[in-house]
Amino acid sequence: MSRDSIGNILRVSILLCLVCAIGVSVAAVGLKDRQEENKRLDQQKNIAMTALFAEFNEQDDADLYGHFESGQVSLFELLKARDEAPENLRPQIDAAVEDLVGAQAAKKLASLKNEREIIQALFNPADGVIKKQFVDLETGDVVPVSQLPKGEGYDARAAAGDAKLQVKIPAERNIAGIGTRAPYYAVYRVEKDGELASLVLPIVGKGLWSTMYGFLALDPDLTTVRGINYYEHGETPGLGGEVDNPIWKRQWRGKVAFEDGEPAIDVIKGSVNPSDPNAQHKIDGLAGATITAVGVENTVNYWLGENGFGEYLKKQRDQRQAGRSRESRVGS
Ligand SMILES: Cc1cc2nc3c(=O)[nH]c(=O)nc-3n(C[C@H](O)[C@H](O)[C@H](O)COP(=O)(O)O)c2cc1C
Repeated sequence: MSRDSIGNILRVSILLCLVCAIGVSVAAVGLKDRQEENKRLDQQKNIAMTALFAEFNEQDDADLYGHFESGQVSLFELLKARDEAPENLRPQIDAAVEDLVGAQAAKKLASLKNEREIIQALFNPADGVIKKQFVDLETGDVVPVSQLPKGEGYDARAAAGDAKLQVKIPAERNIAGIGTRAPYYAVYRVEKDGELASLVLPIVGKGLWSTMYGFLALDPDLTTVRGINYYEHGETPGLGGEVDNPIWKRQWRGKVAFEDGEPAIDVIKGSVNPSDPNAQHKIDGLAGATITAVGVENTVNYWLGENGFGEYLKKQRDQRQAGRSRESRVGS
């Protein structure tokens, strides 16, 4: 039989396809754990970055502002810059790290070599500064992992799509456009010297083209916004994708998310006028991407409201208030 016969060509092609398919499958299965781990680390980094960043003022912190060419610098950038920055800036960078996580954690983080180690240290259940807890949205109570439907394996995103676990959101309350939600969500308490420094909540909602996943961080008063960060969306780069623009994200810091107990974030069309009496609730729109911008507003207000973390936030504020009253009674 000729080497160039149709039978031979087919045999060789099929064999080649088989070898390649087996190679790709083995690689995909073998790398799955690594991929999952990297995804988890990326998400943890996003959680940390939503809450842990320093703010430098162009006048008061001129050196640092100039060095980083930015008024907002994440903990990761600060730690990375430590070894490379000019000698005279190092004490200021150390002070900024300490201001974020406290002296003890700052010392530990300074000795770590890479981002993976830093993330693991931040989230270490024993002595990390970021503590994960699960919340029952219905009651606003914290739920131990042992009581979750799949224990350690519980995944809110999967639960929201699981007909047995999901909670349907009535149409009139479905402002985030997601239709269903999970019964429990993980929230992240960022602590400094054992005290709550900020609370990071997961948010999810529709933009124009995609379901957008991110985090919103609140100050310890659980009313003032600290930061926002999307880690997954499919909006158009340069239009809706500008939700990732650091300059746009920066203005969320200090905004007041509630008015008379109700979520009150308002992403307007155009730029916020600082003399507007409601400027504290308002965020600049995204030019040419009003649908995404409205999606972000609705997403944030949904998750802060009674169908999101509203009940939990109320209980946490009450507990904080009760703790304060106790302290002042003991002190007097
Ligand atoms: C190719 C293309 C991509 C677009 N991507 C987005 C987007 O990601 N987010 C968005 O809100 N609008 C996007 N738009 C624009 C919307 O269709 C709509 O015009 C816009 O949201 C209205 O916002 P404006 O009133 O600020 O112009 C896109 C339009 C085109 C043609």
